[in-house]
Amino acid sequence: MKAIAITQPGGPDVLDLVERPTPVPGPGEVLIEVDAAGVNRPDVFQRQGSYPPPAGASDLPGLEVAGRIIGGDPAAGGFKLGDAVCALLAGGGYAQYCTAPATQCLPVPAGLSMIEAAALPETYFTVWSNVFDRGALAAGETLLVHGGASGIGTTAIELAVAFGHTVYATAGSHGRVQAIEALGCTKGINYRTQDFVEEIQTLTGGRGVDVILDMVAGDYLPRNLKVLADDGRLVMIAQLGGAHGTLNCWQVMARRLTITGSTLRARPVAFKAAIARSLRERVWPLLEAGTIRPIIHATFPLAEASKAHAMMDAGEQIGKIVLTLPN
Ligand SMILES: NC(=O)c1ccc[n+]([C@@H]2O[C@H](COP(=O)([O-])OP(=O)(O)OC[C@H]3O[C@@H](n4cnc5c(N)ncnc54)[C@H](OP(=O)(O)O)[C@@H]3O)[C@@H](O)[C@H]2O)c1
Repeated sequence: MKAIAITQPGGPDVLDLVERPTPVPGPGEVLIEVDAAGVNRPDVFQRQGSYPPPAGASDLPGLEVAGRIIGGDPAAGGFKLGDAVCALLAGGGYAQYCTAPATQCLPVPAGLSMIEAAALPETYFTVWSNVFDRGALAAGETLLVHGGASGIGTTAIELAVAFGHTVYATAGSHGRVQAIEALGCTKGINYRTQDFVEEIQTLTGGRGVDVILDMVAGDYLPRNLKVLADDGRLVMIAQLGGAHGTLNCWQVMARRLTITGSTLRARPVAFKAAIARSLRERVWPLLEAGTIRPIIHATFPLAEASKAHAMMDAGEQIGKIVLTLPN
């Protein structure tokens, strides 16, 4: 099969179109003929050499695909041969064929294209797990999303808005703020020209927000604590601003704050299967009703994966970039 391999750590040009053997599904896995594969920031970190695949995962990049099941054990996930699915992977998505645990597959939502479906798993699993499970965003509570214009951020905004929450989000330009407000975010904050702490204090009358989804960390840590309401939860999913920050422990004690976080890729199949069940029950109906829809910024043929990565390196995309295959 044709696939994109990372020939050595480096820039987008280390991504090469190569021939690889078609993978063989293991017990409980399916073989998927890939129509489209989502591109995510973790793929960039893998390409740069700072985010190696977990033990047992394909060395090929790609954490999500949409396609048809053509082999393996679809019944393990309640599917049959020929079903159109999207799947969360631990790697190997930038290829004509990939394997996935059947329980990490979800049906392509009615009304969505394969390209849109390929853009779902990585951000929807991550957002559901971190905002709704770990962060326990409850009815009537407010959410602040950092990196609101990212693939993760647009998903978090759309989902929380669909569930009736007030959502604030940060982004790095006026145009990106406008884009996230168009998704229903109550107020977008341009963090380059505005202080998000001051803005959130003003917007919430000094109360703060109940949950923060943070991908920045670093010097955002003390600032995030300042804008958490009493009993608030800070959920960290990345450290784009650095791994180390200063923690005022008294803030945590006095206002009963929770600081948590997670990474999805290395978690066990059973954990991901449980998220898939929640998504199918709670979120897939919203996708099928057209209430929410993934934001696709650009598509590239698989062979042009390096162009997709160059676009992500430039950081100008709003929502998702997707690779397409000629199936
Ligand atoms: N923990 C997990 O399980 C998990 C799973 C998936 C992804 N992630 C992480 O989540 C992040 C988003 O992933 P993605 O695929 O959605 O990426 P993406 O679309 O490339 O978005 C990254 C965003 O980060 C913002 N950003 C970058 N540096 C920043 C900084 N110093 N301060 C504030 N904002 C900054 C950029 O927004 P502006 O240009 O508007 O500043 C950009 O929209 C990545 O770091 C990824 O590794 C974590």
